[in-house]
Amino acid sequence: MNIIEIISKKRDGAPLNEGEIRYVTDGFVAGEITDYQMSALLMAVVLNGMTGREIVALTQAMMESGTIFDIGPGGGPLIDKHSTGGVGDKISLILLPVAVECGLRVPMISGRGLGFTGGTLDKLESIPGLVTDLETGRFEELVKELGGCFGAQTDDIVPADKKIYRLRDATGTVQSIPLITASILSKKFAEGISGVVIDVKCGNGAFMRRAEDARMLSESLEMVGREMGIGVSTVITSMEQPLGSAAGNALEVIEAVSVLRGEGPEDCLELTNLLVSEMLLLGGLVETLEEGRVRSADAIATGRALERFHRIVEAQGGELDLSDADLGLPRAPVTRPGRAPRSGNLAMIDPRTMGEAIRELGGGRMRMDDEIDPAVGFRIFKKKGDPVLEGEAIFDVHARNDLDAERAVRRMLGGISIIDEPVSSPQLFL
Ligand code: URA
Repeated sequence: MNIIEIISKKRDGAPLNEGEIRYVTDGFVAGEITDYQMSALLMAVVLNGMTGREIVALTQAMMESGTIFDIGPGGGPLIDKHSTGGVGDKISLILLPVAVECGLRVPMISGRGLGFTGGTLDKLESIPGLVTDLETGRFEELVKELGGCFGAQTDDIVPADKKIYRLRDATGTVQSIPLITASILSKKFAEGISGVVIDVKCGNGAFMRRAEDARMLSESLEMVGREMGIGVSTVITSMEQPLGSAAGNALEVIEAVSVLRGEGPEDCLELTNLLVSEMLLLGGLVETLEEGRVRSADAIATGRALERFHRIVEAQGGELDLSDADLGLPRAPVTRPGRAPRSGNLAMIDPRTMGEAIRELGGGRMRMDDEIDPAVGFRIFKKKGDPVLEGEAIFDVHARNDLDAERAVRRMLGGISIIDEPVSSPQLFL
């Protein structure tokens, strides 16, 4: 087989067969296919799409590029959750310990920031000392001991996703239903789980801006689940504004802990409870979503989920100072408020603008090897539908220096709209 012919075939819109897909995946992981050849192929997939059979073959080949966990019996059902990516989406951090406290085991392989969206691994790594590059054996041990842990794609664990994910981030090839489907499900299925709940984000702060695209992504995810015999449930939720009141790596960890303390923003709490209840339903531990919600809310209210989170973080080497308001996480030296230019009702606080601004502040990557600044980001004081007064702070920016802060405030104010007419707050569940 020949990579140039495969790229040309996809460029011309023809479907690739299973052998060709495996040849590309294995060859790329082995370093025999270069980044520039893979980038060309990925762009051809973005432009020409893939058939259902191709998506299944790609998911399978990526999943089998590394080890597949064998966590074994002796605990609750193995069920995970993933998000297709948003701004301010720190739900995985909150949800994992809650789901474990509700009786599930959650071997979570997550991703880094992708495009303008944040990534669970980057958020977690703002905790000093915390390691997400776990070896397979250690990963399995942590799930056995603590019910769950947060890990990354490595050279042993879905290496194909590790390499392709980084490349997509730096080459404008994220936005593709086949590539998102294979990326998410190869990671999740390599965990040896029996089911996964996927939060499909929809809106301007998501890869799927329109409801019909979000529905197509849901169908693609569920189709691959059916073909590969693993339960996949999808929920479509709004990403028309940033989730919660913080966006940026360390700021989101602080907010996640606040939700685990029962103090966090309502949208984060509601979404956590819904997704945990979907997981419990998929795992057969509850019969109704309402029953699941009650169990999830109880795990938070009793403080058990926070304690579990702390134990998992410590087991992964992380140092969280729960007595400190900032948890001992890095803080940015400069903060600047973004003030309302007029009075009225907040009609838009654009999540995509915020995600791009965070990337520019250094909280995301422009190139594959860029270092992340964990401390930069935004705190959000007003949400869509809230009344605001001229001069009132809508958000503040956390930046490395004055110039970056001023630029980010200006950029974000361009993503704000205030109108006289009343604005209803957006529905979270679509
Ligand atoms: N999350 C992933 O893991 N992969 C994608 O492509 C998008 C979101």
